[in-house]
Formats: sequence, structure tokens, C-alpha cells
Amino acid sequence: MKNKVLVTGGAGYIGSHVVRQLGEMNYDVVVYDNCSTGSPTSVLHGELIIGDLADTEHLYQVFAKHQFSAVLHFAASLSVPESVARPLDYYANNTRNTLNLLRCCSVMNVNQIIFSSTAAVYGEVGENPVTESTLTSPINPYGRSKLMSEWLIQDYAAASSLRYVILRYFNVAGAEPGGRLGQISLNATHLIAAACNAALKRKSAMQIYGTDFPTPDGTGIRDYIHVEDLATAHLDALRYLEENGESQILNCGYGQGYSVRQVIERVKAISGVDFPVIETDRRPGDPACVTACADKISKVLGWLPLYNDLDKIVHTSLAWEMSRVCSLSLGLTSNALSPSCSLAPGISAAITGQPKRLYSSHIPDYWNVATFHELYPFIYLGLLDKLQSVRSKIFKD
Ligand code: UFG
Repeated sequence: MKNKVLVTGGAGYIGSHVVRQLGEMNYDVVVYDNCSTGSPTSVLHGELIIGDLADTEHLYQVFAKHQFSAVLHFAASLSVPESVARPLDYYANNTRNTLNLLRCCSVMNVNQIIFSSTAAVYGEVGENPVTESTLTSPINPYGRSKLMSEWLIQDYAAASSLRYVILRYFNVAGAEPGGRLGQISLNATHLIAAACNAALKRKSAMQIYGTDFPTPDGTGIRDYIHVEDLATAHLDALRYLEENGESQILNCGYGQGYSVRQVIERVKAISGVDFPVIETDRRPGDPACVTACADKISKVLGWLPLYNDLDKIVHTSLAWEMSRVCSLSLGLTSNALSPSCSLAPGISAAITGQPKRLYSSHIPDYWNVATFHELYPFIYLGLLDKLQSVRSKIFKD
């Protein structure tokens, strides 16, 4: 067994993919997650501790019980519009809780951290691609709460033996090709999730927010990175810190942009569903084009992406979203925490004792739909030909 690491937010979308890869690489993993948006069923490896970073006493207990060599810090709130409406919650959950975590690291002598940051720290981007030395000027509380967290980490590192890798994510999408992990939020507003939901008729139509941007087809351009490649970047960063690498800030993207229209066109082509698209006004604060310069991460970490292909991103997203629709529609409501569920071996370790009683109060009802991995092979293999007919059966149209 390799080193023991703490993964905050390891039950969430990106964290859970990283935890799975850490498990495959034989790390000893402890996940600390309040499961407010993440799911215990997404923790495929290690021990899950349900807890909140605001609960410093509990956090200290966890640090005292385990000897962590490094912390991977994902736990955060991440909706831009929500951050505008509830800024104090964002500064509390993102910035203050990062401070809580750093205090624990300081007291318990943990001196390696990998931090989930965002391209939102750059704000309005004048020039593309964006390099790590591009001026940071976030335009919403979400971006500012993350940039402030970066500063906390940097300032503390300057005064201590802490070394960090700050990863600035561009537009993360896709799902684990094995079908066990993906983005679970029912209200995902991201473009690819929205398009998949329209293809699957969960929504009657989707909207394009702005067709008058100064881009070739008038719609916004983004750099979509597959979550599996992003997860691999964390493993690379961890290895880098273990080999005594110095602190780094690194963009995580492919350096390749796609417009909203291009993404929708691929979702339509791959799903075989020509869903309605409504062109509407720009969303406040949406920049025209944001793409990463990804040279530094490849050079520093030797990062080698395997999914740099919009079709792969769309395929895995569609398969994931569709498997969730099927689970719901076919009435597969068995509890993922039932003994027959093989999804989360780590959970059984975490919940030794009275698992159901302990967890039932923490799990929102919509988690009880998680046998989708059983359906996945059928769905994925038949996706291109069968999506239309399965969809028709589900919705009886
Ligand atoms: N869009 C639509 N219709 C939709 C959803 C999105 O037209 O239904 C457009 C947006 O206007 C934008 C593009 O698709 O032009 C991408 O939008 P997303 O909501 O998918 O993602 P954002 O670029 O707004 O933001 C995402 C994350 C942020 C992160 C940022 C980094 O939500 O947390 O990427 O670039 F900071």
C-alpha cells in the first residue's frame, strides 16, 4: 500500500473519479465529504467519513487518527449563479473551509496539498489561450472564493514547508467509461449535461445563451476536458509532490475550444435525437471564448491525456445521463447501499456498525436510484443505434 491521503469532497463528481484512480494505484484513501452534493455510492475505494470542513473539531480528529502524507482538496460549492446570489456561503464553504484545512495541515505537519481551482479565477479573458501567468481577475464570488483560497495556500506555503499543486480546471465534462461514476447533480446547468438532457427528453428543449459573440458561429467557445484526464492530472500531481517537486499552478484543459453550436451538433449526431434548440440572450458574465494553454502541465507533470476528443466526452456523458434516466424510468429504486450493491466497497469499511441507520439520514431520496451501472453495458454498447428506441419506450412517444 502506498501513502495515505485525505480527499476532501471525494464523493463528488471530480473527487470520486480521482478516488477511483487512487485506488487503482494502491493509495490508502480517506474521503472526507458532507455528501451535500456528492454521494456515498460514488466512493469506490477507501474509507468514507461523513463530515464538514466547517466542523474543525471533527476535522482535527480525522487528522489525528490518520497519518496523511498529502491532502487533495475538492470539497467546494461550484455554481457561478448561486455564488452571486449567496456570496457569503461561497466564501464560507470555499475560502474559510480551505483555511480550516490548512490549519489542520499546519498542526498535523501535512505538507503536500493539491487544490481544485478553476479557470473562473481568470475572469474576462482578453487573449486566448490562457496561460498560468494571465492576469487573474475573477468576475463572480465563485471565482473570487477560489482565488482567495489559492492565496491562502500560497501565503502559508511561503511561511512553511507546504508544497502545493493548484490545478485550474477548464470545462470539465464526461463520465467514467466504466459507467459507475459521473455527474450526479439533478440540476446540472453545464452545456453538455443540458444537451444530453434535451436528447434524452428530460427537457423539452435546450437554450443557447447568446449567438452574437465575436466567435466564428456567434456562440461561446470553451475548452472541454474529460473528467478521467483531469483525474489523471491529480495522480500525476501527487507523484510530482512525492518526488519533491516544487509548488506549481497549472491549467487543466486541452488547449482546444468548441463552440456551443459544435457541442450541440455532436450531441445530436451521437444520440441520433434532433432536439429543439432555442436561441436566447447571453447569460450575464459569460465570456466569449476561454481556452487553456496546456503546455505547462504536460511539461511539468508529464500529463498525457487519453480522452482529448469531444466525441468521447459526449459519448460518456450521454451514456451516463441515459443510464440515470433508465434507472429512474424503469423504477430501479433499490438502495445503492444495500448489501447486494457492489458499487462502493469503501463504504462498507466506513460504515462498519450500523450502516443503514447511519446513512439513511444523510442520503437524499434521489440517491436511491443507483443501480445504473448494471444497465450501463447495454446502454453504452447500443447507444448509437438504440438510443432512439430506448428513449421512445421510456417516454412512450
Ligand atoms: N451554455 C448554453 N446553454 C446551456 C448551458 C451553457 O448555451 O444550457 C453555454 C454558456 O453560455 C457558455 C458555454 O455553454 O458559453 C459553457 O457553459 P457552461 O455552463 O457549461 O460552463 P461555463 O463556461 O459557464 O463555466 C464552467 C464552470 C465553472 C468554471 C468554468 C471554467 O461552470 O465553474 O467552466 O471555464 F469556472
